[in-house]
Amino acid sequence: GVPKLQIPGGLMLNVRDTGAPPGVLFRDISPLLKDPVAFRALIDLLEDHVRASFPKIDLIVGLDSRGFLIGTPLAQRLGIGFVPVRKKGKLPGATECISYSLEYGKAELEVQSDAVEPGQKVVIVDDLLATGGTMRAACELLKRLKAEILECLVIIELKALKGSEKLNSIPFYSLLQYD
Ligand code: PRP
Ligand code: ADE
Repeated sequence: GVPKLQIPGGLMLNVRDTGAPPGVLFRDISPLLKDPVAFRALIDLLEDHVRASFPKIDLIVGLDSRGFLIGTPLAQRLGIGFVPVRKKGKLPGATECISYSLEYGKAELEVQSDAVEPGQKVVIVDDLLATGGTMRAACELLKRLKAEILECLVIIELKALKGSEKLNSIPFYSLLQYD
């Protein structure tokens, strides 16, 4: 069977073993997205957290691709704009680019050079933090644009991989933690 896990606010997440290489337990958010009540409750929790922590915020930055699924509804709730950080080769115009490694594999991320004005306050959103390589790379891109990073925010943190340590002094928050 598929184990079910409780998260704050009464949400349930299914844990599945899927596509990832042997030894990697894939934490899938698809069941959460498919359940409109749970999806709404998730965005409620994230909205409450951001409103309580950061009265002044300019933009939500979301990471390709699962971060888009969380970041865009959150930005709409907050009434602020959304900026996509994409895998390399997708964004038109001038971009900043950085290469990074993840729990399995390697990739490059890009952001449009004019996506953020210097000093704008952003929260970077993704579904999951594993090794932290993706989030760290995104932070580096946003720092190049001179954004003020208020926080890195994820639904799921895989604690055993110690990804949050890679983020150095940047504030980090996760709704759910797994060992
Ligand atoms: C997954 C996940 C995070 C990242 C976490 O994305 O959505 O972005 O890996 O891993 P890390 O902390 O070790 O860097 P993936 O690159 O698989 O892309 P996807 O969102 O398009 O599925
Ligand atoms: N991205 C990186 N590692 C992952 C994992 N274990 N489950 C889901 N997404 C991931």
